[in-house]
Amino acid sequence: MGRIGPLHHHRDTVGSSLSTDEVEPDMWSGTPLFPESASTMAGRVDALYFFLLAVAGFFSLLIAGLIIVYAVKYRRRAPNDIGEVIHGGRMLEITWIVIPSLITVVIFVWGASVFFAMSRPPDETLNIYVVGKQWMWKFQHLDGQREINELHVPVGRAVKLIMTSEDVVHDVFVPAFRVKADVLPGRYTNIWFQATRPGRYQLFCAEYCGTRHSGMVGQVVVMEARDYQTWLSGGEPEGSLASVGEKLFADLTCNSCHRPDAQGRGPVLVGLFGKMVTTQSGEEVKVDEAYIRESILQPSAKVVAGYQPIMPTFQGIVTEEQLLQLVEYVKSLKAPE
Ligand code: CUA
Repeated sequence: MGRIGPLHHHRDTVGSSLSTDEVEPDMWSGTPLFPESASTMAGRVDALYFFLLAVAGFFSLLIAGLIIVYAVKYRRRAPNDIGEVIHGGRMLEITWIVIPSLITVVIFVWGASVFFAMSRPPDETLNIYVVGKQWMWKFQHLDGQREINELHVPVGRAVKLIMTSEDVVHDVFVPAFRVKADVLPGRYTNIWFQATRPGRYQLFCAEYCGTRHSGMVGQVVVMEARDYQTWLSGGEPEGSLASVGEKLFADLTCNSCHRPDAQGRGPVLVGLFGKMVTTQSGEEVKVDEAYIRESILQPSAKVVAGYQPIMPTFQGIVTEEQLLQLVEYVKSLKAPE
């Protein structure tokens, strides 16, 4: 476990007990094998986990017990003992096929329902961008706050992490929230969680990513909504992610082709996010984060029908963080109602 650093923005609210390595007392205290529970998903994941443990435990004991009982009961009593010949038992075979099959179906359905709940974020989420790199975690809030190895989130709100990597595969893992997902170079992956208790929770990299992989840890700081707002406004002079992206958009002269008046050589970007577009090859593509990213790095990959593949690539020119700023700027270009 990494040492926990001092709190800067909300010393008065989270309390001194959380500024140390101490874990808050809960039903698992004294059980270091098990992480604490601090998200809406934790209970569901644990319930399934304990069910699996119970099934495995029950059958392990049953089988081990029967081995011992039968070994004693049917042991060889005299040197010339010969075992009775048995030609199967239909009922027995049906039983040991049907019962385990039913149990595995239960496990599958239950597991799938938890998996779907984990992989489908609610419609309304607080989006935070994550960039992993050897060996640190970088977080960008939409309001412009940026942080490293520390992520501040409000309690009781669904938070979606939109994640990518600057170099190799990393993996975000917050045991207390029971969430874990790979962070891949070249694409965006998501996880979501809703924290239930203020506090500090460990965040690990759970994919071996080089020499200092084990040091690639951080903390999720869960705050009361009010404190979170205070923390956010204690903020960045640069402005929101979208406004930083807007400036970058102008600096890179993207706006000379992507003009809002449809007179440019590139498609109009206003109101584009979330829509379907038709490419030159006739393919229908949804404009999401991944598509915008690809269009910046490999502009000729999916050119919108009616336009020429004249856009230069920005591969190597914009960083992963700047890509997120541009993506967020394009997302912010809402069509006037
Ligand atoms: Cu990043 Cu391991």
